[in-house]
This record gives sequence, C-alpha cells and structure tokens, in this order.
Amino acid sequence: MTGSRIVALGHYQPPKVLTNDDLSKLVDTDDEWIRSRVGIRTRHIAEDETVVDLATEAAQKALANSGRSAAEVDLVVVATCTAVERSPNTAAAVAARLGIRAPAAYDINTVCSGFSYALATADHAIRAGAAGRALVIGAERMSDTLDWTDRSTCVIFGDGAGAALVEAQEDGAEPGIGPVVWGSEPERGDAVVITGWDPVISQQGQSVFRWATTQIAPLARQACERAGIDPSELKGFVPHQANLRIIDAIASRLGITDAVVARDVVDSGNTSAASVPLAFSKLVERGELSPGDPVLLFGFGGGLAYAGQVVRCP
Ligand code: UT7
Repeated sequence: MTGSRIVALGHYQPPKVLTNDDLSKLVDTDDEWIRSRVGIRTRHIAEDETVVDLATEAAQKALANSGRSAAEVDLVVVATCTAVERSPNTAAAVAARLGIRAPAAYDINTVCSGFSYALATADHAIRAGAAGRALVIGAERMSDTLDWTDRSTCVIFGDGAGAALVEAQEDGAEPGIGPVVWGSEPERGDAVVITGWDPVISQQGQSVFRWATTQIAPLARQACERAGIDPSELKGFVPHQANLRIIDAIASRLGITDAVVARDVVDSGNTSAASVPLAFSKLVERGELSPGDPVLLFGFGGGLAYAGQVVRCP
C-alpha cells in the first residue's frame, strides 16, 4: 500500500463575467442584497464552451504545472453534475482531447462535494495499485441549469473548472492525501434538485444554509482528526464556495484563525464541483499557500452529500 499526493493544480474560467449590476437588469435584485446575503460580486459564464472544454483547459494547466506528460496518466476522474452527453463520459472526452492513451476514465456526480469524492477515489485506486497517476477534475457549466427569471438561483451560480495531478508516493512517505470523511443524507435529497430533460436547479436555501452551518464543521473536524492534525495547525481551508457567510461560519466553528481561508465565491460564485479545486488552485498560483502546507478541503451540498480530506499543498 502506497499513498498519493497532489503534484500540481490548474484552473480555468470562461472569460465572460457577469456582475451583480448586470443581473439587476434581468431580475429584481441588487448588488447590496447579493453581497450581504451570499458575498458574491461576480461570476464567470460560459458562452460557446462546453463542460468538456472547461475541464480540458483546467486539466491541461495542471498537467503543464506538474511537468508530467499525458502519456504518464492512467486515470481520469471528472466530478460534474452538468455533463450533457451520456456517452462518452466527460472524463473520456477530456482524455481524448489530451491524448491520454488507455486510461480508466469515469465521471462522479455528487454535486458540490464532487471534487473531494473524486480525489478520494483516485487516492484509493492508487493505494490499491489500480492506478499510478491521475487527473482529478471538477468542472461545471452551472449556467445550463439556471432559470434566468428566478432571482433566488440565477445570482448564485457560475461556470469553471479546477484540476489536480495526483500520483503515487514512495512507501513510508507522509500521505499527501489524508483519509476522506464522506457521506450524505439521502432522505433530504430534495433540498437541492436539478431535474428534468432541460434541467433546472432549485434549492431550499434556508434549510441547506442551516445544515451547512451546523453539520459540516464537526465532519470537517473529523477529517482533521483522521489526518492526525488539529484544525488550528492547518495552513489552509478550502470549503465549497456556496456562500461567504457559510464559509466564515464553518471556519469560525473549526477555530480556524491563522489559516488562509478560500473566499473565491466573491469572484466566481458557486461553481458546484469545480469550486474547491478552482479556489485551491488560485491560492497556490497566488503564492498564498506553500508546498507541504496542510490544507483542509471540504465539499458539501446537493444530496445532501459531503466529503473532505486534509491534503498537502503541492
Ligand atoms: O451549493 C449547493 C448548496 N447550497 C447552499 O449551500 C446554499 C445555502 N443557502 C444559502 O446560501 C442562502 O439561503 C441563499 C443565498 C440561497 C438565500 O439567502 P437567504 O438569506 O436564505 O434568503 P431567503 O431565501 O430567506 O430569502 C429572503 C428574501 C426573500 O424575500 P421575502 O420572502 O422575505 O420578501 C426572497 O424572495 O430575499 C428574497 N430574495 C432576493 N432578493 C433580492 C431571494 N433572492 C433574492 C435576490 N435579490 N437575488
């Protein structure tokens, strides 16, 4: 049994930016409501780019930052809830674009917790000897699921992708990806739904807000315990980017004071499974985290599914 580590990250967002003022011309909303209730100032919206395009761009950057070649990758996992095609799956389409030969390739849909689920399955595959090097991607075109006349959702979500290049570690090395804490409350699955042939997202905002601000911190603490680290020792915390008030509430309940806390929701909105790798990649690119830093990733949302783990910063 050997562990795995994140070697490099990459991210991509489509160029079109929608401001709160832009949205106030579409629905009855305003900048003050959106910033005070959710914390969002802008979000990126894909025009011609598909979810495969977004995922491929992010994966290409992670690959370039890692110094590894496509030929060295044998597993591709994409976390997404906005794949349009049923076959080939998003991971296979990305692998084809990148010229990765004969990879195991599959998609995971646990909505906003998807990246940590995907990262865990890649880590488990590597530990089991079923894979040696993986591209783990979170990619979403949430704009496809929006009703642009519904102010309660169209101001919240955005499009984007983030990716990690993950590889096996030497036996005996300190694990770069800690044990996952994952689960769900399937009986409450109707709290966030994306349904129909032309899918539309809707959520019971206040109920999900209460769940996230009360139930997630103890689970995130468990992920730290399983990694043998106290939350106060974390250098970084990258939770799902749903709402600035939720992010700050969880960080405060965890007793995080000195760590860098990802607040990319301000610029990017909620990008579901892309939010964690997107925010993490930006922190690393800006030099706000250093190689080896312990960072807690924690996704939560639709399902009501959650997953998280402590990782070492690439
Ligand atoms: O990523 C998936 C997991 N999802 C989450 O984690 C989301 C968790 N929930 C939330 O982040 C918040 O509940 C929301 C941001 C979705 C909503 O904020 P809220 O403070 O819970 O607002 P609310 O739904 O209770 O609505 C309060 C008022 C309502 O008006 P009335 O009934 O009090 O007159 C809404 O109609 O705000 C109104 N409202 C808006 N007003 C201006 C709802 N959306 C808007 C808007 N602009 N965009």
